[in-house]
Amino acid sequence: MIALCEPCLDGNARQYLNDCLDSTFVSSVGPFVDRFEKEFAVAVGSPYAIACACGTAAIHLALIACGVGPGDLVLTSDFTFIATANPIRYQQAQAAFIDSETVSWNLDPKLLVQALDDLAREGRLPKAVLAVHILGQPADLGPIVAACERHGVPLIEDAAEALGAGYTADYPYASCAGKQVGTIGRIGCFSFNGNKIITTGGGGMMTTADPVLAKKLKHLSTQAKLPGLAFVHDEVGYNYRLTNLAAALGVAQLERLPEFIARKHRIAQRYRELCAKKGWEYHPVLPGTAPTCWLASALVGPRRDAILDTLTKAGIGARPLWMPVAHQVKFQGSRRWGGAVAERLAAEGLSLPCSAGITEAQLDQVITALEGC
Ligand SMILES: Cc1ncc(COP(=O)(O)O)c(C=O)c1O
Repeated sequence: MIALCEPCLDGNARQYLNDCLDSTFVSSVGPFVDRFEKEFAVAVGSPYAIACACGTAAIHLALIACGVGPGDLVLTSDFTFIATANPIRYQQAQAAFIDSETVSWNLDPKLLVQALDDLAREGRLPKAVLAVHILGQPADLGPIVAACERHGVPLIEDAAEALGAGYTADYPYASCAGKQVGTIGRIGCFSFNGNKIITTGGGGMMTTADPVLAKKLKHLSTQAKLPGLAFVHDEVGYNYRLTNLAAALGVAQLERLPEFIARKHRIAQRYRELCAKKGWEYHPVLPGTAPTCWLASALVGPRRDAILDTLTKAGIGARPLWMPVAHQVKFQGSRRWGGAVAERLAAEGLSLPCSAGITEAQLDQVITALEGC
């Protein structure tokens, strides 16, 4: 079996994990949590980084910190993994969905402008915009930042799939040029689930430039306990801490991030060449952005399911792209701007094996199988 996307766990992982075992600091206290937060902040260029239990928890706390509560509206991407949208419902708020643009597969800024203008006219502006950087490809965030600022709506970035991606110096919006994803909106959210570009087994990170917000996020993630030995809690908090064990793995993985990204680019290049020959559409790169090519994906046409079946039978791990979140049971009936692009991504999209550790011989095997499709 050639896996879709499995972690690469060599390097210093074993040594750092053994350090945790030897010290007995395996839980939510220990030096690796602080170290992971500091080194992560430096790696992405954010003043503050706060570790937490998973990417979903990061989004949940980001929404709370932006004041999202019962009955509020949050605008987000229709084409994404459901973990983007679920935390909106944890807060008993409503999600409304914006279609993708074809040039990046991310939230379409023109539709977002339309949605914000419609909602402003109706006197019902959203409490937050939650923009996703899908599959390692940065969204066209410049016009999204401008639209959010115009309406005074906070922007949260779901960068769960895009650690290390960013905007080049010639990206035409100064708000983003030269910056990495997750450092532009009020809060950035990352995931270290097992299939992500770096993993901690399960884990997440929140980034912000605001020291007050950073303190608030840490507080909320640690049961809202006030400092001191007495158990005094000044609001409803969460046990969303990352363990020292997980953080130790995170530190070791972060050391290898540039290597993983380089490998992902090489894999994407191989698939791009194949797609050009087959007339398929590989995930496009928006000009002025530097993607990480996290999950290699392409639009392979209406015979997608037959291709997927062929690959599965050949022991090759592939899977379809997500259906629009607006079609998921608990989100049906949500307000939606556009939808045709997300429908096509769901119908024709295929993700292909792209572990950082995949060998050239395995890639050859996948490409030969695809050539025969
Ligand atoms: C776009 C997106 N958002 C959020 C998440 C949630 O992250 P986690 O699985 O760490 O909770 C994921 C990944 O799983 C994701 O792909």
